[in-house]
Amino acid sequence: MRNEEVCGITSVVELVDIEKAYKTGESEVSVLKGINLTIDEGEFIALMGPSGSGKSTLMNIVGCLDRPTKGKFMLLSKEVSKLPDDELAKVRREELGFIFQTFNLIGRISVLKNVEVPMVLSEIPRERRRARALDLLRSVGLEHRVDFSPQNISGGERQRVAIARALANDPKIIIADEPTGNLDLKSSDEVMNIMKELHDGGRTIIMVTHNPEITENCDRVIRLRDGLILGGAS
Ligand SMILES: Nc1ncnc2c1ncn2[C@@H]1O[C@H](COP(=O)(O)OP(=O)(O)OP(=O)(O)O)[C@@H](O)[C@H]1O
Ligand SMILES: [Mg+2]
Repeated sequence: MRNEEVCGITSVVELVDIEKAYKTGESEVSVLKGINLTIDEGEFIALMGPSGSGKSTLMNIVGCLDRPTKGKFMLLSKEVSKLPDDELAKVRREELGFIFQTFNLIGRISVLKNVEVPMVLSEIPRERRRARALDLLRSVGLEHRVDFSPQNISGGERQRVAIARALANDPKIIIADEPTGNLDLKSSDEVMNIMKELHDGGRTIIMVTHNPEITENCDRVIRLRDGLILGGAS
């Protein structure tokens, strides 16, 4: 029995010797060069590092949006590399919530419908998903924007819609790639306050950021450089 099991701490992410290479034409570019990282349930992790160091590549692997070239990846005690595509999609839909720098909302449907989208994919009945979307939008202070198009609200509001959408299926893990990268100071503070509340509520958060100031609420800062974690295995 492992130490963590004795202490009652469960790891939600376990990366062992993860490598990722991209083929471009004849050549192969090695982006992740042997990542070893364990993230425990309820941790708030900041992932930092220079542009091009592989942060988004790593987040895409942890988020099951991409597969590693080599290595072992356990997510919620399942070995992801062995899961077929449809099961991987289910894990992504039910266990993970995504927040991106550029919000990635659908412009031609309302704020409310955007938050409903993941619940449509999970086949939640209409009334239930509408009520939950409303609750989530209320929780991020956007009950007055439900019928708006995402095109007619501010950047900070868009990111709060994206957070509500990320929470739609009540995921255990939130994956946020530079969630405040496009926001002004005030909106950035609002988003970070929500992230802190989610962390206090017990969710695991993995967040990429270039801003050292917003890492103060994080439990741990992981630094990537040229495809490796500085300081070695964590
Ligand atoms: N699909 C791809 N094909 C080829 N190369 C890629 C691909 N995706 C990423 N890369 C390369 O991998 C490297 C790491 O990219 P990544 O997006 O992970 O960096 P990052 O740390 O997130 O940078 P930033 O801070 O600018 O967002 C870059 O050199 C990039 O060009
Ligand atoms: Mg990136």
